[in-house]
Amino acid sequence: MRKTIVAGNWKMNASKESVNSLINGILSGMSDVSSDVIVCAPFPYLSQVEALIINSDLMLGAQNLNVNSKGAFTGEVSAEMIKDFGAQHVLVGHSERRSLYGETSTIVAEKTKAAVDAGLTPILCVGESFEERESGNTEAVVEEQLNAVVGLLGIEAFNGIIVAYEPVWAIGTGLTATPEQAQSVHLFIRNLLAGSSESIAQNTPILYGGSMNAGNAADLISCSDIDGGLIGGAALKAEDFLQICKAG
Ligand code: 13P
Repeated sequence: MRKTIVAGNWKMNASKESVNSLINGILSGMSDVSSDVIVCAPFPYLSQVEALIINSDLMLGAQNLNVNSKGAFTGEVSAEMIKDFGAQHVLVGHSERRSLYGETSTIVAEKTKAAVDAGLTPILCVGESFEERESGNTEAVVEEQLNAVVGLLGIEAFNGIIVAYEPVWAIGTGLTATPEQAQSVHLFIRNLLAGSSESIAQNTPILYGGSMNAGNAADLISCSDIDGGLIGGAALKAEDFLQICKAG
């Protein structure tokens, strides 16, 4: 039985003040939540969140990492540094990094490996653009993105990887995939993993992301292969985020 996981991706939205009130708001409602809950904060706020969530069930993640563990890489942050602030998770391959910062599936696979090697759990994001869906290439795109990681790390690494299916056309647009559309791709992903290992496929959490909100979360998460959500906009309001956490 896979546990429901809800992860918030704050993207580049935070201030010391907003982080305080958001985390305290989430913590105040956590006693009614049975899902695993993760917040992925921008780097400068990892320390603040680490201090706020101490002795709670809330988990911390980062949004990016460099493939190297240290050295002359000005402006970059390593998996070890992320771990140093108590984070257990890190997003890799978010579509904004793929499209805005040129992260190819090869780079994403290398980042996934750096995270796994350091003992972090990567949340590996995959998903097709609007044009790719319209031209019938959704499965081919997702397969290429996943295969790059399976090819570099091997299927066993998925014992420590969370997958997130995020159709690019649904991110920040208010256009949520229907539960049927999402379930169909989630099942495709699980079957793809099952081609290498049935048991790992059954145990790998696959989250949905893309305009998930308090109103649509329950319908999505109730699908058999949707194991939770990766939330952008709605993760910035404690009440909305908690409602999604409770939908699982
Ligand atoms: P929205 O929930 O704002 O659509 O963002 C989804 C996302 O990109 C999470 O990583």
